[in-house]
Amino acid sequence: MRLIVAQDYNAMSRRAAQMVAKLVRAKPEAAIMVPTGDTPRGFYAELAAIHRRDEFDVSRLRVFQLDEYLGVGARDPNSFQTWITRAFLDPLGIAASRLVRLPGDADDAAAACRAYDERMRSAGGCDIAVLGLGWNGHLGFNEPPADPASPTRVVALSAETVASNGRYWGAGARVPNQALTCGMANILAARHKLVLVSGERKREILRRVVTGPVSPETPATYLKASDQVTVLADAAAWPWPVPEQDKVAADRV
Ligand code: PGA
Repeated sequence: MRLIVAQDYNAMSRRAAQMVAKLVRAKPEAAIMVPTGDTPRGFYAELAAIHRRDEFDVSRLRVFQLDEYLGVGARDPNSFQTWITRAFLDPLGIAASRLVRLPGDADDAAAACRAYDERMRSAGGCDIAVLGLGWNGHLGFNEPPADPASPTRVVALSAETVASNGRYWGAGARVPNQALTCGMANILAARHKLVLVSGERKREILRRVVTGPVSPETPATYLKASDQVTVLADAAAWPWPVPEQDKVAADRV
């Protein structure tokens, strides 16, 4: 696992966008898994800015949605699909047909999850999974305790995760307490994992991930036992000297 500490949120976002743009230039047909949340907003904006300056081919990308609320349709303004379309697909001119959805409104959500894993298999796996770090160490909606071999599936969200996501839904809204999530197996099997972590509110969980033991109670710690992982944090999330410990190579940007 490589920990890179950028001086601030903008530097983190820029660096992430440069890494992904480089990968897409080298492999225009890449399969990329994309997150929602507060953290990646700057990354998507920077990626769109790079694409405007120096158009690279995104027509062959395969975009895999990381997670979605159960019972929330594609057209719902609160769906993650709407979010991804607005933040990523539309600004880069990526056709909606390139998105492999996790359909929150599927009649048979379990079958839809199996179909998603099948699409991932036929894509030859994921080239890069861009991830946020949840307040409790979740990746996607893989809440603790998580099985590293878990498939894409329907999960129950913890009360804290529901509350934390409430900020996107507005006062009084009923936030779903179930979701579809890409499983840990496909996340960990991605050829690159890029985890974006920003802000003081992620400090303690990031410290637990970097310095703590690998544990199902903190799903992101499985990344430490996996290859090709870059944790890209800003200095608010990692204000300490970068540790010299095994497998954590440090860099400052
Ligand atoms: P955030 O969400 O980027 O909004 O903090 C991350 C997550 O919960 O996975």
